[in-house]
Amino acid sequence: MRTKIKELLGVQDHSTLIGKTFTVKGWIKTVRNQKNFIFVELNDGSTFPNFQVIVEPTVKDFDKLAVHMTTGASMSATGTVIESPGQNQAVEMHATEATVLGYSDPEVYPLQKKRHSFEFLRTIAHLRPRTNTFGAVARVRNALAFATHRFFQERGFLYVNTPIITGSDCEGAGEMFQVTTLDMNNPPKTDKGVVDTTKDFFAKPTYLTVSGQLAGETYACGLSDVYTFGPTFRAENSNTSRHLAEFWMIEPEMAFADLNDNMECAESYIKYVLKDVLTTCKDDMNFFNQFIEPGCIERLQKVIDVPFERVSYTYAIRVLQKSGKTFQFPVEWGLDLQSEHERYLAEEFFGKPVILTDYPRKIKSFYMRDNEDGKTVAAMDVIVPKIGEIIGGSQREERFDLIERKLQEFGLAKEAYWWYLELRKYGSVPHSGFGCGFERLVQFVTGLDNIRDVIPFPRYPGNAEF
Ligand code: 4AD
Ligand code: MG
Repeated sequence: MRTKIKELLGVQDHSTLIGKTFTVKGWIKTVRNQKNFIFVELNDGSTFPNFQVIVEPTVKDFDKLAVHMTTGASMSATGTVIESPGQNQAVEMHATEATVLGYSDPEVYPLQKKRHSFEFLRTIAHLRPRTNTFGAVARVRNALAFATHRFFQERGFLYVNTPIITGSDCEGAGEMFQVTTLDMNNPPKTDKGVVDTTKDFFAKPTYLTVSGQLAGETYACGLSDVYTFGPTFRAENSNTSRHLAEFWMIEPEMAFADLNDNMECAESYIKYVLKDVLTTCKDDMNFFNQFIEPGCIERLQKVIDVPFERVSYTYAIRVLQKSGKTFQFPVEWGLDLQSEHERYLAEEFFGKPVILTDYPRKIKSFYMRDNEDGKTVAAMDVIVPKIGEIIGGSQREERFDLIERKLQEFGLAKEAYWWYLELRKYGSVPHSGFGCGFERLVQFVTGLDNIRDVIPFPRYPGNAEF
C-alpha cells in the first residue's frame, strides 16, 4: 500500500516510523546521481517538503534506474524509513525497490531547476501544479474552501446550490456571457429581423450567472441562513491583477438580519478562515512568508487580532479628499471608489481592513435597501490592504413598493423579476448577505500579486487555454 509523504514527514513523533517499511509514490523534483547512490527528492503534493529517497546499487535494475530517474519522472519506491542525518528532514528512505512509472526527458522537461517567472508558468498551467508555489497555492486554496464550509456549517447555515445558467442579471451591469445553442452563423430571425430567442434552448435569452444572490435570497426567505459557494462569470473587459472572467464566490444570505449582522458575519468569516489556514497550512504559509511576500504571516495575524474599522462611504470620501494625495481617478461624493482609493484607506490611512457602508444608491445595485436619507443604501464593502475590495454586500430592499420602483428606476423589466418581487409580497423579512471573491481571498492569504496565479486555469480576456 502506498503512503502519502505527508504521513511520513508531517507526523509529530517520527520515532514511530523508524525501521518500518513503506511505499511512496511521486514525481522527482531533483536527483543527484552518484556512483554508489541515487539521491532523489520526491514530491507527491500531499505536503510542501520533498521526501528524500536513497537508492543503492543493490537495488534491482540500478543501472537502468540511474538513467531513467530524472527530474519530472514519476516513480514508486519501497524501503525502510530511517532517521535522516541531514538537517532538512527528520526522516528519509533507503529504498530496497524502485520503479520509474513515467519517464520524463530532462533535456526538454519544461520545469527546469531554475526559478521560472509566473508569466512563463501560466503558459504551462498543466504542469505548474508541480512547482513549489502552485502546490502551496492549491493546498491553501483547499484549506480555505474547507474552512469556509466549516465556518458556515458551525453557524447553522445551509449550503445551497444556485443555478449557473440564469435568465436574470443580478448585478444589473450587463456583464454577462450569453448561453445559446442557436447557430451563430444562421440564427432564426423574427419578422423584425432580430434574433428569435424563443427558438433558443431555453426559449429565452440565458446567461452564465454573475452571482447566486437572487436565488440565494429565495432560500434564505424560507430557510433563514444559507450560503452558496460556486463559480460566477463576468464578461467585463478588465485586464487587471484582481479580475477574472470566471471566479468563485462565497455568498451567505441571512433572513432576519440587518447590515450590522452582515458586517459581523463578514468580519468573523475572514478571521476564521485566516486563523484556520495559519494552523493547517504551516509549511505552505512559511514558504509564502519567505519567498512570495516577506511578512505575510504577520500581516494576516494582525488582521485576525484587530477589529475592522467601520466607516461610511461619505466619511471615506472626506478622508480621501483631505489626504493630500493625488489620485489618478477623481474623488467626489457620488463617484465609485477605485482600487487606488480603497488601498489608500486600508493600507495607509487605517492600516487595517475597513468596512465601508452606506454608498450612494446610484452607484450600487438595485436590490440594496434604501436608507432614510434618500441618497444612500445599506451597502457594505470590505476593503483589505493589498487587494482592495474583497467582499461586497448589503441589506436587501425588503419593501415591495420600494423594490418595484427601484427596478423601474434602474431600467430592469419587472416581469423578469416576478419571483423576486413575490418574496416581498409573501412574508417579507429584513435580510442581508454578501459575496466574497474566493480568488481575492486566496491572493490576500498567499501574497501573490496576480489573481491569475491563484486559480488553476484562469479565464481572462483573450485566454481560455487549457
Ligand atoms: O461586489 P460584487 O459584484 O457583489 C455581488 O456580486 C453581490 N451579488 C454579492 C452578494 O451580496 N451576494 O462581487 C462580490 C465580490 C467582490 O467583492 C470581489 O471580491 C469578487 O466578488 N469579484 C471578483 N473577483 C474576481 N474577478 C472578478 N471579475 C470579480 N468581480 C467581483
Ligand atoms: Mg462590489
